[in-house]
Amino acid sequence: MAAAVEDFAPREIVSSRGARITVRAVRPEDEDGFHAAFLRLSSESRYTRFMSVVRDLSEATLHHATHPDATREFALVAVAGDQIVAGGRFVAVPETSDCEFAVTVVDDWQGHGLGRALLTALRDAAAVRGYGRMEGYVLSTNLAMRKLGARLGFSDGPMPGDATTRLLVVVLRGDDGRAAGG
Ligand SMILES: CC(C)(COP(=O)(O)OP(=O)(O)OC[C@H]1O[C@@H](n2cnc3c(N)ncnc32)[C@H](O)[C@@H]1OP(=O)(O)O)[C@@H](O)C(=O)NCCC(=O)NCCS
Repeated sequence: MAAAVEDFAPREIVSSRGARITVRAVRPEDEDGFHAAFLRLSSESRYTRFMSVVRDLSEATLHHATHPDATREFALVAVAGDQIVAGGRFVAVPETSDCEFAVTVVDDWQGHGLGRALLTALRDAAAVRGYGRMEGYVLSTNLAMRKLGARLGFSDGPMPGDATTRLLVVVLRGDDGRAAGG
């Protein structure tokens, strides 16, 4: 399922505190900015994003993050001035018509509406590209992500045998192939 990021038209949004933000596809030249944004993350945000302790990103990870495979990945960044302040992506889940999302906002920009803007754009892009469902695994303690998911229509269910994790799911397309809600 093709999910070319270059098809995504950049858009300007205004954060809840009045800052002008550009939401656009990630680019190969974003490697340094992506790394800088990661280094700005608190250890708590790193943990809630990766669900493990991550002290830094390898060159290979940075390359992968900024060179999404158009056949199965889609990645956006939010930029304030010349700084990347948030990023979000989805990747196709093998053997299904579903995709899995992740969203990260640097700490000093959290709570300004960027997570909502990015996840909305990801959800809409996945729907346009024909994915059936979008899902995300989040820590049960991650109330910010769970609330954001609920606001955007994701169900919030338990993971069998794992009380630490919740599965957020939104249906994008019904079994009849029609867009959900359409
Ligand atoms: C989770 C995260 C993506 C949310 O993004 P954000 O930009 O901070 O959230 P927004 O400002 O868009 O807020 C979206 C909703 O979540 C709520 N929310 C945001 N932060 C919250 C918090 N700390 N506690 C409770 N609710 C919170 C907001 O109130 C808002 O709901 P509203 O529309 O009713 O006001 C962001 O906090 C983050 O990057 N955390 C670290 C990485 C992570 O956990 N990623 C998710 C795993 S994939």
